[in-house]
Amino acid sequence: MKDQFKYLSGFGNEFTSEDSRCPGALPVGQNNPQKCAYGLYAEQLSGTAFTAPRGENLRTWFYRIKPSVCHGPYEIVESHCDLTHEWNKINPNPLRWSAFVMPTRQESPVDFVEGLHTICGAGNSNIRHGVAIHVYMCNASMKDSAIYNADGDFLIVPQLGILIVTTEFGRIQIEPGEICVIQQGMKFSVNVLGPSRGYILEVFDNHFQLPNLGPIGANGLAAPRDFLTPVAWYEDREVDFKVYTKYGGKLFVSKQKHSPFDVVAWHGNYVPYKYNLKHFMVINSVSFDHCDPSIFTVLTCPSLKSGTAIADFVIFPPRWSVQDNTFRPPYYHRNCMSEFMGLIEGRYEAKEEGFQSGGASLHSMMTPHGPDDKCFESASQVKLKPERIADGTLAFMFETSMCMNLTTWAIESAKLDDSYYKCWEGLKKQFDPDDKIHVTRT
Ligand SMILES: [Fe+2]
Repeated sequence: MKDQFKYLSGFGNEFTSEDSRCPGALPVGQNNPQKCAYGLYAEQLSGTAFTAPRGENLRTWFYRIKPSVCHGPYEIVESHCDLTHEWNKINPNPLRWSAFVMPTRQESPVDFVEGLHTICGAGNSNIRHGVAIHVYMCNASMKDSAIYNADGDFLIVPQLGILIVTTEFGRIQIEPGEICVIQQGMKFSVNVLGPSRGYILEVFDNHFQLPNLGPIGANGLAAPRDFLTPVAWYEDREVDFKVYTKYGGKLFVSKQKHSPFDVVAWHGNYVPYKYNLKHFMVINSVSFDHCDPSIFTVLTCPSLKSGTAIADFVIFPPRWSVQDNTFRPPYYHRNCMSEFMGLIEGRYEAKEEGFQSGGASLHSMMTPHGPDDKCFESASQVKLKPERIADGTLAFMFETSMCMNLTTWAIESAKLDDSYYKCWEGLKKQFDPDDKIHVTRT
């Protein structure tokens, strides 16, 4: 379906936008006039401390029909228990989930908020340090309701179904192969066109950034201009509206008498954005050996520890593989970071069976992982020539420096693959002290 919405281009830009129905809604030369045009209210949304360094300071000014403060009291939502920070199941095993089960037509419709399930997490949003990984499975649009996340930022990765995300800033359409980031505090509502499923990486510490490029130079990986932010769009609807908030790992709701998507104009650099993963410029070895997967980083949320991410969003896109004298699939690995993988479509090269699109795997801190026996056998024997890999496939990884513990839902309700460990059982002993064929030095 063609994306019908309009966007502004660039990552981290200072944008201005006003709905064309109200020209001149944006004040010129100041933020907070005594009387705003069209009888609008001015409201600032701060995404960093007021005093954050200029290069990191994020905020947006809204010009809206009613200020956000016009709402009833927050009440806890008791019925929704799968969105949680109660990740108290500690499990070092390599874990793999079959495709997360969609709601069926026989059940009552499930919208985006109702369809949120937390798989794992670490840390504590109260002290703004940690991550969480969720999935959503839904089949209905949110009706006269919105949500904002007080705990952190959502990076949303659709796997099935188009999402139309209405935000205070305007409307975004994303489909599998695209992502969007809705940062802390931004109200949004999700419409779906059919059954929809996807993954969400949530970070508490900081906002996502483009990774530094180092010796790669000024260009490569995700280009800033390919990140798209919606243009201002408002609705003037006085209806009973529910605004949910994820606050301290729990869901609360407040009621109000108007749509929160009433922003007629806005300006600032604290914005939601989308990105098409097809635009990612892949860097890789063209001589020998295997680069670390950090070459595939789309976005990173840095920690205070140099070079160490709270979480990276990494993709494994279609590309050429050309290395000589190299075992080309991902190497066998033990990592001080935790690796959560999902599959948007296709078949992942290191495990062609068992890793399903719409499913996931988790290799948490120092849990060994790597290619299965079939992959090892074929990649060790194959005659090497330049070849396309991952065509028709899009796998991704949420890599975090934290130790990921699991929720009850992830262990007891989602479909864990009990036989996952068996995919390495067939790896044979290869050792032969008399075999000198591959000795490179004597
Ligand atoms: Fe790894």
